Amino acid sequence: MGHHYGYVSERLISGGLLPQRRRERRPDATAAVPAIEGLDVEAMRSHFDFPATGRIVTNNAATTQTPRELVDLYRRLTPWYEGVHRGQSTASQRMTERFEESYDTIATWINAPSRRTIATYRNTTEAINAVMYSLLTEFRDGDNVVTTLVEHNSNFVPWYALAREVLPRFGRSVECRVARFDHDTGQLDVDHLAGLVDSRTKLVCVSGASNFLGSKPPLGRIRAIAHAGGYLQPTGERGSLLLVDAAQLAPTTLIDVQELGVDYLAFSFHKMLAPFGVGVLYARGPLLERSLPFLYGGDMVAEGKVGPDRVEYGELPWKFAAGTPNVLGVIASAQALRLLADLALAEDPPRFESRSPLCRADVVAAMNRVNSHVAGLTDRALARTGGIPGLHTYGPPAGVVRSPLLAFTVRGTDPRDLAAALDEQGVEARAGCHCASLAHRDLGLDVGTCRLSFAAYTNNHDVDRAVDALAAIVRRG
Ligand SMILES: Cc1ncc(COP(=O)(O)O)c(C=O)c1O
Repeated sequence: MGHHYGYVSERLISGGLLPQRRRERRPDATAAVPAIEGLDVEAMRSHFDFPATGRIVTNNAATTQTPRELVDLYRRLTPWYEGVHRGQSTASQRMTERFEESYDTIATWINAPSRRTIATYRNTTEAINAVMYSLLTEFRDGDNVVTTLVEHNSNFVPWYALAREVLPRFGRSVECRVARFDHDTGQLDVDHLAGLVDSRTKLVCVSGASNFLGSKPPLGRIRAIAHAGGYLQPTGERGSLLLVDAAQLAPTTLIDVQELGVDYLAFSFHKMLAPFGVGVLYARGPLLERSLPFLYGGDMVAEGKVGPDRVEYGELPWKFAAGTPNVLGVIASAQALRLLADLALAEDPPRFESRSPLCRADVVAAMNRVNSHVAGLTDRALARTGGIPGLHTYGPPAGVVRSPLLAFTVRGTDPRDLAAALDEQGVEARAGCHCASLAHRDLGLDVGTCRLSFAAYTNNHDVDRAVDALAAIVRRG
């Protein structure tokens, strides 16, 4: 059924949500700071409410702010509010169409071949657990999983639990191996990882960007290592599966799952401007076709194919969408991607709320701009914090590719006191282990580190305010 949401587009145009707001920019106190070439950060900020509060939002690796349009979108969807896949009503069909189109947008964003390879979950953590549970029955006695000390607990604890707690109860012995990292540079020790991968490595699990060290491992090389291990998968294919935790990669880096050759890739939309509640699992189509679902129940079964002795599952991707989904959340998440492209490229026609497919070339251009913008902010922060006495930053030095964050300690100061002192000055940092418990422990950082992290809407003024506040706190002692 080809419904057109003319009312939405008209509202957008008459309400001027995108172009007019761009024209009538509402610069905050940072207006004097020149925008980094390529991305008009002040225009971007005018779509958010937080700048007006004076907050220096520098805890973006945890969660990003959401633009007004996405909150308003929930309101605009309510006249036709309905569930998906279960009603003859026009409202349900409209909502279903918008929901399903969201999968196409997400697929385009990461260059997945089609919506069939996309499953939505609550967040990255749940997506990784979905992989764990769907592969559970495939592990053979003597297999292993290789992960790293750099991981967020979301990409370590499931594998630890699988090997140490779940599979032993089925009488199967599977090892969880953990690759080291270089303490000075924060880079994954890829040679060590290569030494851990062998012909019994079913799966290699790495994060695309560390949320503590900021390092980004060479995924191409890791793909080759996983492949060379030669593990015999149940399909007859040779090589270990590769799972990439892209929670910190996706928000500011262009992702092409086909070029990366990953088998699984997971990320969360609440780190990419969308409201809380939706994460994505990309998986190679053939894997999804043959693997068991993680959740069973309604909506994931084939119409009319449920009997006491036989149940058939729905077509991909709905086989992996059991139960009533987060309909509005998924729509808003896909629209967050479209809006990000609009805000980064600032060229009409708007992609947000457009019924046209998202153009991959726009994604490439938008993410290149975002990436170079945040790289500039990170270099600036590294250069300016370099002069603060007693401050030590972890991870790669300035000039080396890294995610837009800095985790640091100041000699003689508890990171939690630092974060609290920064907060008194309006600067939002985060202290603790950031769920990167293994790496903190490995470095002997029991009380954790303090972290500043940037997003596409961060400007130089935010960085300078944060660094100046930090310098003043350290001077005061
Ligand atoms: C690298 C990495 N992986 C996984 C996660 C978990 O994300 P979520 O809490 O959205 O599941 C995070 C969140 O901070 C992260 O930084």
